[in-house]
Amino acid sequence: MHIRDATPDDWPAIWPFLRDIVAAGETYCWDRDTPEDRARATWFKPGGRVLVAVDEDPAGTVLGTAEIHPNQAGAGAHVANAGFMVDPRHAGRGVARALCAHVLDRARADGYRAMQFNAVVETNHRAVALWQSFGFDVLATVPAAFDHPTEGPVGLHLMHRTL
Ligand SMILES: CC(C)(COP(=O)(O)OP(=O)(O)OC[C@H]1O[C@@H](n2cnc3c(N)ncnc32)[C@H](O)[C@@H]1OP(=O)(O)O)[C@@H](O)C(=O)NCCC(=O)NCCS
Repeated sequence: MHIRDATPDDWPAIWPFLRDIVAAGETYCWDRDTPEDRARATWFKPGGRVLVAVDEDPAGTVLGTAEIHPNQAGAGAHVANAGFMVDPRHAGRGVARALCAHVLDRARADGYRAMQFNAVVETNHRAVALWQSFGFDVLATVPAAFDHPTEGPVGLHLMHRTL
């Protein structure tokens, strides 16, 4: 696989799995029925950067995507935020690990000095362990801040690392 900047032409390949992840309602604080135009605007934020992980065989298959944007405006803009979505059909083969390594390097090169995740669902154990393996700390957990469809109210982790 290789990782490159996304273009608007990548959206049709991203949307089907992003839609399914959002519809599952287990990992993102988005409306589960977010329409396509709002999803695209949320992922391709002005001032942000979107990456895709692309398979070599078959060439060009989008396996997953990540986006980087300033966590705050103005005086808070040196702290990045990022989002990650991997096509469930390609889960467990290191796509998110490769995307995260690339995102950290790219954010550092773009001048960000830290990265913060505001709302990591505490039951998303795969993601929490992955971010911790990259040096992110859980600074706090907002109790019962996420209404999980099967687990009920669960916490949201605020995770952070310097770059
Ligand atoms: C969470 C997510 C990004 C992980 O993507 P992925 O490409 O499957 O992850 P990777 O294959 O890179 O594996 C990352 C780690 O997860 C763990 N993992 C992998 N497959 C797993 C499985 N089936 N069950 C449990 N843990 C697993 C491993 O510890 C792995 O670490 P390793 O590299 O040391 O083995 C992906 O499942 C996803 O998009 N989920 C929905 C959206 C989401 O949760 N985004 C993150 C929001 S904070």
